Amino acid sequence: SRADHVRIVEVGPRDGLQNEKQSIPVATKIELVERLARTGLQTIEAGSFVSLKWTPQMANSSEILEHVLRSTPQSPHPITYQWLLPNVKGLDNFLSVLKSHSQAQQDPYPSPPPSPGFDDGPALNTSSQDPNAMPSSSSGAEAMGKPRGASSSTTSPVHELSIFTAATETFTQKNTNCSIAESLKRFEPIMARGKETGLNVRAYISVALGCPYEGPNVDPHKVAELAVSLLEMGANEISVADTTGMGTAPKTLELLKTLNAAGVDKSDLALHFHDTYGQALVNSVVALEHGIRTFDASVSGLGGCPFSPGATGNVATEDMVHCFHSLGLRTGVDMEKLSEVGEWISQQLGRANESRAGKALLAK
Ligand code: HMG
Ligand code: MG
Repeated sequence: SRADHVRIVEVGPRDGLQNEKQSIPVATKIELVERLARTGLQTIEAGSFVSLKWTPQMANSSEILEHVLRSTPQSPHPITYQWLLPNVKGLDNFLSVLKSHSQAQQDPYPSPPPSPGFDDGPALNTSSQDPNAMPSSSSGAEAMGKPRGASSSTTSPVHELSIFTAATETFTQKNTNCSIAESLKRFEPIMARGKETGLNVRAYISVALGCPYEGPNVDPHKVAELAVSLLEMGANEISVADTTGMGTAPKTLELLKTLNAAGVDKSDLALHFHDTYGQALVNSVVALEHGIRTFDASVSGLGGCPFSPGATGNVATEDMVHCFHSLGLRTGVDMEKLSEVGEWISQQLGRANESRAGKALLAK
């Protein structure tokens, strides 16, 4: 049944890598995305279109997007790729890659200059939200890069946008150089163009359970108020983020109850736990019991936000999958393959593998 299926959003290629100081070859990033796509994970945040002055590691996200668009899908289920962006400039950069790809695919001959604005015909995202559904054979599949005449046993990827704001003013300033209200204003044109182009929009709310600048007691009503606003603006999903890992089981429950009381539907929520204090799995189980079925995680526990000093990576995807499977839940993820990816990327980065379950499985 749907109730025992959990959707894991793998954020390793974005959240996991964005804070690495050494420069990571784009080939390694692409290989990470490809390896993850073969583990059964169905949603992968693959890069971000942010200012390079702020987060230089994400410089080659357009190359990763180009690669995803060009490559023939390998998996029997459609993979959803998410792309983080803070403003219209990021959206423009993202859409220009998409547009030049679809022109190269569909129109080998030069065409007259397009009318002002983004006008690319059919909606880009025609696949159902249901991860088990087969994609429709409408023109959307072609727009998203499925080669003509490709075998119907392969499926085209779906692309989604991720935007981000935060529950405290100081964090919003440090991360995006604007106030919370200004961040919502920035999202209006992104939402509008997301709708026009058929792209779902996910919205993160950072520091929902503690702020590196304003302390551990972030007002859950502020988080709920933002979630309601973002959903009203058209966000398809809210990812509530414990950026600092300060969340605890009681605080997580209190936040979820506050969101519920504000009218936010459980099915519109994802939870994004960083594991700085080792509480991410405990908090995840609290959220599971509360009915949440979408969770973000990062392979081998990579990552952290450059604007959250001291914060470490997300909960390791391997640990989350191990835990959820032990509870009888289905993730669709092959634990062994995933653990191998975690070990591989840790070696590539010269970092310790932070997944306990992944290491234990590989040592057997
Ligand atoms: P700003 O400096 O105020 O922006 O930064 P600006 O509009 O004044 O532009 C400054 C320069 O950046 C200009 O270039 C722009 O063109 C360029 P110049 O003219 O000086 O050469 N620029 C861009 N370039 C590429 N892509 C863009 C873009 N926008 C402007 N999209 C801004 C404001 C929002 C751009 C900046 O603060 C920014 O990029 N912030 C993102 C920081 C970031 O990457 N944080 C990490 C991701 S969020 C996260 O990790 C949390 C999450 O995991 C959830 C959780 O755990 O909490 C999601
Ligand atoms: Mg994060």
